[in-house]
Amino acid sequence: MKGLANRYYDNKEDFLVERAKIFAPMWVCIGFASDAPLPGYVYRVEFMELPLIIVRDYDNAVHVFHNVCRHRGHILVTESGELGASLRCPYHSWTYALNGSLMRTPHIGGLGIHDCEAFERNEAGLISVDCRVWNDLLFINLDGSADSFEKFIHPLEERWSRLWGTSGSDKLRRHEDFQPICFDIDANWKLAIENYLEAYHLPTVHSELNRVSPMQDHDIQVAEQFAGQVSHCYQLGAESENRLPIFPDWPSPLLTEADYPALFPNTLLGLQADHLFVMVVIPIHFNQIREETRLYFVGDESLTLEYETLRQEQAVFWRHVFEEDVSVVTGMQKGRASSGFDGGILSPVQDRATQAFHEWVSIRLGI
Ligand code: FES
Ligand SMILES: [Fe+2]
Repeated sequence: MKGLANRYYDNKEDFLVERAKIFAPMWVCIGFASDAPLPGYVYRVEFMELPLIIVRDYDNAVHVFHNVCRHRGHILVTESGELGASLRCPYHSWTYALNGSLMRTPHIGGLGIHDCEAFERNEAGLISVDCRVWNDLLFINLDGSADSFEKFIHPLEERWSRLWGTSGSDKLRRHEDFQPICFDIDANWKLAIENYLEAYHLPTVHSELNRVSPMQDHDIQVAEQFAGQVSHCYQLGAESENRLPIFPDWPSPLLTEADYPALFPNTLLGLQADHLFVMVVIPIHFNQIREETRLYFVGDESLTLEYETLRQEQAVFWRHVFEEDVSVVTGMQKGRASSGFDGGILSPVQDRATQAFHEWVSIRLGI
């Protein structure tokens, strides 16, 4: 089977069609609620040519807004971080509350006159985007037309209930000092997803990972909303005192099982008995992505000093693996400029999940 043609990787026009037809009508992860950890924190996200902000208000609610002032369209927030009780535009100082409402419009009616006739302040708040937080993952629905979030996430919840039981989500913990793993990569978003969907490259690209989790112990699974790999040889520490706390409901016969699905379109997940990683592939431009990865451990105990070394080792391990993937993803992007390539030849065995992903994309694009 042939893969998607070069044009779906190498131009802005098709990229914006993807935004409208693939991303906008569904629930899509754009980041993590804990990146705006406390009221007054704001986190900027550049998403498919759109400037957005994640904001936590004083009711602890998380909002996503278009990061643009309603007056003359200046970017509202220029840097992520703790911004306090309001968001002030750097151009003429219109100031918004953390829930998006417009609070102040200094001198709008002339010097010292902060209101004016025919100006309806209540209608000039920030433009918000529908959002939901699920286990710290922040999903948005850009055009507001998606089915319910519960329906969207149900297949993944069901899949993981077999592993982490009913208590798994309550046990996830992110260490507050923990450094996020971020990569800025010059490639189309789909190449990062496709690379995650196969274990074929393990022997050549990840020799170390392939030693502990060899290619032949990975199964490829394909479902409607996701595809990916299941490993049957995940190695927990041999002795319980030498390993991180594990999910209390995880069945003992499945301790060596690990689940690596890509939740379409852009969220790469890795669930093991002792931790979860989540990599959100954020498309910025047609040939640029930001990979934001966070690690979550199990229960309060996992965040104690006692486990610091094990936590660090886990983070170093994944950072190294994801770093190894960067050059192959950019290498594929460079290849998309070649007139000698137009989709390539997918292995019916090794590239089954990529094939399923391409079909999923094609259906949405109507090609
Ligand atoms: S553009 Fe923001 S206050 Fe004028
Ligand atoms: Fe890889």
